[in-house]
Amino acid sequence: MSTPQKFYITTPIYYVNDRPHIGHLYSTTIADIVARYHRLRGDDVFFLTGTDEHAAKVADAAAERGITPLEWADQNAKAFQDTFARLGITNNDFIRTSQDRHKEKVLQYIRGLIESQDVYVGQYEGWYDTGQEEYVPENKANEYEFKSPINGKPLVRKAEKNDFFRLSKYQDKLLALLQGQEVDGRRFDVQPEARKNEVIARIKEGLNDVPISRTGSRGWGIPIPNDPDQTIYVWIDALFNYLSTVDTDSRRGYWPAQVHLIAKDILWFHAVIWPAMLMALDKPLPALVYAHSFWISEGQKMSKSLGNFIDLEKIDHYVATFSLDALRYFLATAGPMGTTDSDFAEAKFIDVYNSDLANTLGNCFSRISNMTNRYFGGKLPKTPDNDRGLILLQEHGFSLTPMLSDERNAKIKALNIVGHTNEVFASIRAIDQYIEKTQPFKLAKDPANLPEVGTILYNCAEAMRIASILLWPIMPTKIEQLWHRIGCDHYTQALANNGPGDLNAWTQWGQLQPGTPILQGDPLFPRHQVK
Ligand code: MSP
Repeated sequence: MSTPQKFYITTPIYYVNDRPHIGHLYSTTIADIVARYHRLRGDDVFFLTGTDEHAAKVADAAAERGITPLEWADQNAKAFQDTFARLGITNNDFIRTSQDRHKEKVLQYIRGLIESQDVYVGQYEGWYDTGQEEYVPENKANEYEFKSPINGKPLVRKAEKNDFFRLSKYQDKLLALLQGQEVDGRRFDVQPEARKNEVIARIKEGLNDVPISRTGSRGWGIPIPNDPDQTIYVWIDALFNYLSTVDTDSRRGYWPAQVHLIAKDILWFHAVIWPAMLMALDKPLPALVYAHSFWISEGQKMSKSLGNFIDLEKIDHYVATFSLDALRYFLATAGPMGTTDSDFAEAKFIDVYNSDLANTLGNCFSRISNMTNRYFGGKLPKTPDNDRGLILLQEHGFSLTPMLSDERNAKIKALNIVGHTNEVFASIRAIDQYIEKTQPFKLAKDPANLPEVGTILYNCAEAMRIASILLWPIMPTKIEQLWHRIGCDHYTQALANNGPGDLNAWTQWGQLQPGTPILQGDPLFPRHQVK
């Protein structure tokens, strides 16, 4: 066996001041799906998420409650950890920026930047967005009418003495990289294309140096070496999490990351400041920064005052009503990958649930298991000619096996989970069409036709097995139940505890053994009746 390929994927680390909501769960679930897909392929995966804790607003919130910032951060970081664990997220680690393992590394990186002569002391004055913890450029502040474009709160005028990073020095290199060129042996990409072009246009307007420290943080944050007045700017501290977590003897091989998955709100930091700092430190660059768009809710921007926030309580309601896997499926297929925002609306959710999960996937499996039970006593029948079976199915549009591997991997690599899922579902619909055309339920009326009925059912079960493997990263719990019903618990066992799968071997045609019991059970996705 060849050594497995390393695959490192990250989510943003979330501010501890907020409670987890659908936006956080979305990025983390998409990353989870991609991580699971790579484990299914047999790759050596490292999947990281965590919390960003050194924001000034954390110290403020703690002070209001009369507790220390760390106590406040502990409570909220735990809410993220618990939520992700409960919702089936398989991150390999959870980084908190208040942990020593992170802080020690950050100091090392800052020293590296100082040594590289890319840091100098200067004076900064500008409009500060305290919610986002970032300065807003003068022309933008004007355009936003001096209010945060994210939360509407007034921008604050601030002046401070800071350490600056020479971002301007990296303007040409960043442009070349984003335009697809190799620079000093490095490559770097930002997707989607339209977002990358926005970044390119902004870089062309000229890059200013950026402060990497802050004054007046009241002891919360990582102090700048030899200057106790200042702490490392929370954004600089935060970006380093991607590197600090794997900067240990046993994990160093994971760097550079293959994917930083984020949303459009934080693209500038990831597409410009982060690669520039890495170049200053002479480190390899992540392969891809992918910035998805935003969830809105019931047609409007999510807001607490409108009461349309998809918060933890709402998330739990969807999980209880439709199952966790149904929520994952909706996030994966109806979500804002790409450049348009998506609407999280209950009617849309029910529609997707009923048409894809209840009527297509669930129903197709029920038909196969019901007929196997009715005509063959619940044991998978024999097929006289496997290859002919595959060809027959392909004639009805089943298209999974021939293009497994390269094309499939290219889709996942481009984070085209929607395209991936559409294809699998087209193949499940093809199984249905094959049943409609061949009419095994009619053929079975004459016992002389049973061998043919057996062939049809074998083909259907085998096609369903292959489709199910490709859906496992999205709906692991339901697919493992399905596997149990077709005698494939060995997949579940291999994948337990983040173990590796063998996608190529598992998706070869003709592996179900005739005679295997096919269990009927309750519908995998019972149809949802709208009251
Ligand atoms: N702490 C910074 C990130 C530092 S990364 C080195 C931060 N945190 S955050 O808690 O505000 O999370 C922002 C991220 O949450 C977005 O980039 C996105 O991944 C997710 N989302 C927050 N709201 C969202 C939506 N409404 N829709 C989709 N995802 C969104 O910024």
